[in-house]
Amino acid sequence: MTITYKDAEGIAGMRVAGRLAAELLDYLTPFVKPGITTNELDKLADDYTTQVQHAISAPLNYAPSGHNPYPKSICTSVNHQVCHGIPNDKPLKKGDIVNIDVTVIKDGWHGDSSRMFIVGEGSVAAKRLCALTYEAMWHGIVKVKAGAYLGDIGHAIQTFAEGHGLSVVREFCGHGIGRNFHEEPQVLHYGKPGTLDQLKAGMTITIEPMLNIGRKEIKELGDGWAIVTKDRSLSAQWEHMVLVTETGYEVLTLSAGSPPIPAFVPVAAAASAPSPTTV
Ligand code: MF3
Ligand code: CO
Ligand code: CO
Repeated sequence: MTITYKDAEGIAGMRVAGRLAAELLDYLTPFVKPGITTNELDKLADDYTTQVQHAISAPLNYAPSGHNPYPKSICTSVNHQVCHGIPNDKPLKKGDIVNIDVTVIKDGWHGDSSRMFIVGEGSVAAKRLCALTYEAMWHGIVKVKAGAYLGDIGHAIQTFAEGHGLSVVREFCGHGIGRNFHEEPQVLHYGKPGTLDQLKAGMTITIEPMLNIGRKEIKELGDGWAIVTKDRSLSAQWEHMVLVTETGYEVLTLSAGSPPIPAFVPVAAAASAPSPTTV
């Protein structure tokens, strides 16, 4: 799948799809409480996507080569699950951390975003991991600009993560996105400045680092999708979708319920936020 560049019409389509993904996460947020099952969250998400947003759940039946069709409408990755956790009938319990990753298709355009949720009261270690992973994502986002290198993004994320004693999962990465769920380029969350491809205006990419408290190694569960840390340490992930512009970036997956943008993010660059609040 080659790199695609969005014209004005494509950018308009991606803005809508991105906003819908963010609003779907907003909708799910109050339901993420002890006792709810991830299957119940999946049903809520699919109903909202199809009946309220009049959009399509991209994960449902998604079948990239080498995979069986994904059976649900969202991914829910709990605790030591890194990504692609399949919703099930096990209730979430107080202290769990869960990544909810949603992708909607609206008028043919994909909107992809994920957030971490702490179920009830979380441990200090769990809260720290979720907060630092969110910051790591933003350290990558602020590097985005026409002419910047993909290696600049990866390096920023890796340096921040490892500087805080967290490890970066290597096997999964961000990606180009548009009329297809996964397009080129691959957006690695580790690397060296000035290496790999240069970004160009009109590209839309995701930045979605997966950071572990323990070692970086992962393994696949027997269901063919869910990925877990090999050492069973906690893992967190956040994902935004961004448009590359001549002067920087526009985050496409912001909504009223998005967490505050970190204070180190230049305000002008974050001006595409509906409410550009910083903390
Ligand atoms: N949303 C994931 C991503 O960010 C991909 C999930 S593929 C699925 O790229 F089939 F597991 F849903
Ligand atoms: Co993605
Ligand atoms: Co995603």
